[in-house]
Amino acid sequence: MNPVCRIYALSAHAPHKILTNEYMAGIADTNNEWIVSRTGIRERRKLEKTQNTSDLALIAARETLQKTGMEADALTHVITATCTPDMLSPSVACILAGHLNAGQVMAFDISAACSGFLYGLSLCRSILAHEVDARILFVCAEALTRRVNWNDRSTCVLFGDAASACVLTGESADAHDSSVLEDVICKSDGALSDLITVGGGTACNYRLGDQVDERFFLAMLGRDTYRHAVRQMALVCEEILQRNALTVENVNLFVPHQANLRIIEAVGSRLHINGDRVFTNVDKYGNTSAASIPLALSEAFAAGRVRQGDRVLLAAFGAGLTWSAALLRY
Ligand SMILES: CC(C)(COP(=O)(O)OP(=O)(O)OC[C@H]1O[C@@H](n2cnc3c(N)ncnc32)[C@H](O)[C@@H]1OP(=O)(O)O)[C@@H](O)C(=O)NCCC(=O)NCCS
Repeated sequence: MNPVCRIYALSAHAPHKILTNEYMAGIADTNNEWIVSRTGIRERRKLEKTQNTSDLALIAARETLQKTGMEADALTHVITATCTPDMLSPSVACILAGHLNAGQVMAFDISAACSGFLYGLSLCRSILAHEVDARILFVCAEALTRRVNWNDRSTCVLFGDAASACVLTGESADAHDSSVLEDVICKSDGALSDLITVGGGTACNYRLGDQVDERFFLAMLGRDTYRHAVRQMALVCEEILQRNALTVENVNLFVPHQANLRIIEAVGSRLHINGDRVFTNVDKYGNTSAASIPLALSEAFAAGRVRQGDRVLLAAFGAGLTWSAALLRY
């Protein structure tokens, strides 16, 4: 029997500051019509100058802990998925655990870019298989506006900032506001690692006093990325449905990574899933990388789009390349 991996009290936080397409048109050679027709994005959020990724993570984490009624010192693990950490080291998870007074928990970050939520769920399921009493705070937090190249109009319009948090346990008893991870598949193709890159590591071989150049920022080959995203997300969804002897008819809601409305529609159409069973909020937030799926999922829960017993199909795609699909039962 599969170990139980129960997701409690999913919370999400997006900074209040909104960058509209009109604002973007004021700072880059772009316009609302181009952005909406190619991406479906109308606005994105930006963290304050004084904030870092861990600050967004902290807001989402506190809300989740409050919902569960759990104290931070009851946690056994703090795990963060991010490709925009405050620093290369220490991890966002350690910084967050410190702010929460979580004590001497095991704390670390994972780097799977926009697939971070599903990669993290897979990892948490494995932890819970060996440590059934584990209580894992799993946070996805990103500040992509700190790493987009504002001189590159083909990418700077696409990304935004957000965080999400949930607590994962191995409890089998049903609980209010929780869902069970039925299955998850995670894949990658490192041969395509050049398609999307976010700088800041040792490949940025600067010396003190050097000016940063474009290697420091996010770069993407958009057309190739688009092609792989549509193909791999559709294939991994078909695979997870098949290995669970399910069809799209057994899926009540599809919540894909919110990168681009055209990618979402193309995947939906390959899967033959009706648009009314596909959740999107990319218009409001743009691509928030690891935070994108849990941000969409928490809005879907809040909007009553998922009822008790419903099955939700999740699909992710991101730098690495990484991609993934998961099935949740609410
Ligand atoms: C980025 C993306 C929207 C670009 O759309 P596209 O139709 O492929 O557009 P292209 O890159 O071919 O560019 C077409 C034209 O629009 C221009 N353009 C690019 N960005 C623009 C912008 N923000 N505003 C106006 N024009 C823009 C290009 O310069 C190009 O002009 P040209 O024909 O004069 O050279 C698209 O490739 C995409 O969605 N890719 C996937 C991105 C993604 O979601 N990645 C994250 C995965 S996790």
